[in-house]
Amino acid sequence: MTPRAVVRGVGHYLPDRVVPNSEFERTLDTSDEWIRSRSGIEQRHFAAEGQTTSDMAVRAARAALDDAGLQPDDIDTVIVATSTADLTFPSAATMVQDGLGMTGGFAFDIQAVCAGFVFALANANALIVAGQARRVLVIGAETFSRILDWTDRSTCVLFGDGAGALVLEAADGTGTTDDRGILAVDLHSDGRHRDILYVDGGVSTQTTGHLRMQGKEVFRHAVEKLADTAHAALDKAGLTGGDVDWIVPHQANLRIIKATAQRMQVPMERVIVTVQDHGNTSAASIPLALSVGKQSGQIKQGDLLVAEAIGGGLAWGAVVLRW
Ligand code: UT7
Repeated sequence: MTPRAVVRGVGHYLPDRVVPNSEFERTLDTSDEWIRSRSGIEQRHFAAEGQTTSDMAVRAARAALDDAGLQPDDIDTVIVATSTADLTFPSAATMVQDGLGMTGGFAFDIQAVCAGFVFALANANALIVAGQARRVLVIGAETFSRILDWTDRSTCVLFGDGAGALVLEAADGTGTTDDRGILAVDLHSDGRHRDILYVDGGVSTQTTGHLRMQGKEVFRHAVEKLADTAHAALDKAGLTGGDVDWIVPHQANLRIIKATAQRMQVPMERVIVTVQDHGNTSAASIPLALSVGKQSGQIKQGDLLVAEAIGGGLAWGAVVLRW
């Protein structure tokens, strides 16, 4: 028997405030046409004043627990992927633990920026395979609206807020690619590229800072590295692009999503796309896409999925899983 981390439930939360591209035309030299054509984004959600990352994460977690038919105390591990935790410490994950009313288990955050959810899935999988966790809430949650420079049109129009969550559960597999659950993981980072996407503040500088990005450079790396890591993860599982039912990409830019699918020789009909509605929600984008994909009836039990993401660091990776 091979231990597998199998998806038991999925859910998401988006804040009420929807901001269409046209809203930026009032304050910036930009246009709906530019934002749509360069990024595919049509609107994004922004958190209400006072609404925090852990607030949204708790709501997404509740939705995933409902979908799984489980109670908070059925969970033994909470992992939150975020770069925008409420406080410097404690972790957003411990706040989620408390927000759900959990009385046991352990909780911690993962910070790999836009690749955070892929890194969190890899960690949850490792804990389950090692027998150290049985049911893990894996959450991606972000309030990037709090770190945007509203005078920088090249970044502030691209991001949004939200949260998505999965419940992963230990199950016995047969060790073949027919098993449900996580089948392979491929992770990378390269700190030499830290200057092309970063926040220019932090605890030791006593500021929060703002997101800074050399968009063209990040774009170049993304197109090359995302298809490579997705292929590497498929290789590890003994599968190819032809086996994939759904690519569930990090939702940063429709042009990157299309280029990656093309390099993987997977048609766009087999790609979950939510970037038009959510913008780039960093670590929340993949679980949001998984939840929307399931709700819309696209993702079905037994489907083979590849989730891939890249972000600040650079950090990037892919997970192959059978839903
Ligand atoms: O989630 C982490 C990963 N992040 C990403 O994957 C983001 C990767 N990068 C991108 O998505 C794209 O590079 C952007 C959407 C950020 C930009 O698209 P681009 O086609 O690379 O445009 P660009 O940066 O080369 O800018 C083209 C022009 C520039 O003007 P000049 O220099 O050609 O006169 C910009 O100043 O567009 C201008 N520009 C804008 N114009 C109107 C930049 N932002 C805007 C804007 N509205 N909001």
